[in-house]
Amino acid sequence: MKAAIFDLDGVVVYTDAYHYRAWKQLADEQGWAFDESLNDNLRGVSRMASLQIILDHNGIDLPEKDKERLATEKNEYYKTLLQSIDESALVDGAVPFIRALKEQGLLIGLGSSSRNAQMVIDKLGIATLFDAVVTGHDISRSKPDPQIFLMGAEKLGVAPADCAVFEDAASGVEAALAGGMTAVGFGPSEGLDGAHVRIRAYSELDPATFAAR
Ligand code: BG6
Ligand code: MG
Repeated sequence: MKAAIFDLDGVVVYTDAYHYRAWKQLADEQGWAFDESLNDNLRGVSRMASLQIILDHNGIDLPEKDKERLATEKNEYYKTLLQSIDESALVDGAVPFIRALKEQGLLIGLGSSSRNAQMVIDKLGIATLFDAVVTGHDISRSKPDPQIFLMGAEKLGVAPADCAVFEDAASGVEAALAGGMTAVGFGPSEGLDGAHVRIRAYSELDPATFAAR
């Protein structure tokens, strides 16, 4: 193992609650049904695809222009909520685990579909943890396409086969596997059983043993 690429939302930072509150605010305004179980289906899904899932759930069909306006509105709510994000939103053990992998000589990448990823890592003061950052701004194909992780590996100068990917979404695990990387499924989501390694907390992995894989 020469590098580890981390997804952001749900893997390094618990932003799920912030995404939920932003979608909920939009849904309430529009009179749409939206709850936490539907929110679970949005993990790792792009902004526009997330909106489509909510619209489909409500049996609503809208022109593209309206969808773009509504997705932008949700993002404004999300960015407002992010103003108050602090270290308490960091996933337990994530930062010490990443630091320990660095001490083992691994390069560290960030591979997040979010177009807000840079803002989040800047606000939390963790941008310097990452040797390479690839976000929703850089990609043309969403997970489960491996593009985001392959770009990350290339930026790190490491072969995909020497990379591990940490992901909390089934689409992200699929992307890592499609890219020929070691997939680590993290967190409570279902659908991560195809990953090479399946953990619910960082305390389940010893960084030295993992780096020696
Ligand atoms: C993913 C999140 O990381 O990013 C999704 O898990 C989110 O919930 C997606 O929809 C896109 O994020 P953003 O910040 O660009 O709307
Ligand atoms: Mg995620």
